[in-house]
Amino acid sequence: MRTRERRNMTEREWSITTSQEAIETHERYIVQTYRPHEFVYARGRGVWVWNPEGERKMEMLSCYSALGGGHCHKDILQAFVRQARRYWPGSNAFYNDVAPLFAKELVEFCEMAKVLPINTGAEAVERAIKIARKWGYTCKENAGDSLGFERVVDVVETAKTWGKKTKGIPLDTAQIILCDNNFHGRTITVISASSHDKYKRYFGPLTPGFTLIPYGDLAALEKAITPYTVAFLAEPIQGEGGVVVPPEGYLKGAKRICEKRNVLLVWDEIQTGLGRCGKRFAYQYEDAKPDILILGKFLGGGPGQVSAAVCNEKVASVLEYPEDGSTFQCHPIDCAAALAALRLLQDEGLPERAFELGNYFRAELEKMKSPRIKEIRGKGLLIGIELKHELGGAKPFVTKLIEEGILCNQTHEHTIRL
Ligand SMILES: Cc1ncc(COP(=O)(O)O)c(C=O)c1O
Repeated sequence: MRTRERRNMTEREWSITTSQEAIETHERYIVQTYRPHEFVYARGRGVWVWNPEGERKMEMLSCYSALGGGHCHKDILQAFVRQARRYWPGSNAFYNDVAPLFAKELVEFCEMAKVLPINTGAEAVERAIKIARKWGYTCKENAGDSLGFERVVDVVETAKTWGKKTKGIPLDTAQIILCDNNFHGRTITVISASSHDKYKRYFGPLTPGFTLIPYGDLAALEKAITPYTVAFLAEPIQGEGGVVVPPEGYLKGAKRICEKRNVLLVWDEIQTGLGRCGKRFAYQYEDAKPDILILGKFLGGGPGQVSAAVCNEKVASVLEYPEDGSTFQCHPIDCAAALAALRLLQDEGLPERAFELGNYFRAELEKMKSPRIKEIRGKGLLIGIELKHELGGAKPFVTKLIEEGILCNQTHEHTIRL
């Protein structure tokens, strides 16, 4: 390359230098699926972030749980850069020497059997749905047993006719139960299972096979299960739904019902998992270990895009070649960051720290005895402050908090999320 051209390349700007220009350029060129608050990230270290003008704020949203180690943690950064210098994603037609180590440590950390890594949260939810459906059609151990419903005879007949492993559910009839007010991502299949019209109104035809029940209602779960039900999929605390903590006993009760009725239990811990709620996983508050554990966000450490459907023995071998895959599934740079994040979480005791700090924070918030607050909810450092509805929404309060130096967001109109 000629010297002049090379100089032009190094002189070219790689980021925008004023907040106003960044906002205007964003609004002009990026499809507006979000309505961001007026703060532009230009630098971040730990809990602190700065805008292009050098104004400092405290990061209290932490990318909806993706920044468990803060911005630019040295261990994660080092792992990420080290791998970026070694090699980049090759092809899943070959093995690499990072993803298996990450998978091993993740599976051991979760005390599960195998992991299906993928990239975004919604994709991991999709994978859990695929695994549950195929399990329902093909799992041998359960052929016709414990169904106890009106179709049990048909079901056993179907199993015989197919002459192969089956839970007994005829192809294309599987149902998955989810909860009202859920949030599991934005792909077409995932929004098909949403109870919010705003997420799905214009995107039909939607994917069938989902039944919605009220969150926190065990009787509704028991009642909704039919011979076609393969899984119950829910968040142990609804994050996007406004930091909704279910009644005590719900997680354990859901596990008991799923076991009794031969239905897979799937916890979406994309937002609640990996320490955020004061334990490794929120389900551990009630010892309600699932068959499939869905993880994302901080799994990639911050810089990496790694999500996962972590499976127990029962479902670990359900998906086979060539039923799934994706170009960046075992992305070595992202997996290196993920491995560093997993080790950091354990070495620095992040779940225990979130437990302590969360208790302290919520207690201090309670002490404020603010007449504007309806309820303070959450576990660990996943915290929602619901304001009284007559105040007309949390947005102006969030704007004020941001002005005062605290980055946070509103969720479900009336709740400030930290
Ligand atoms: C519980 C839960 N599931 C799934 C998702 C979707 O994750 P992603 O945005 O990475 O697709 C989110 C995102 O906020 C989430 O909170």
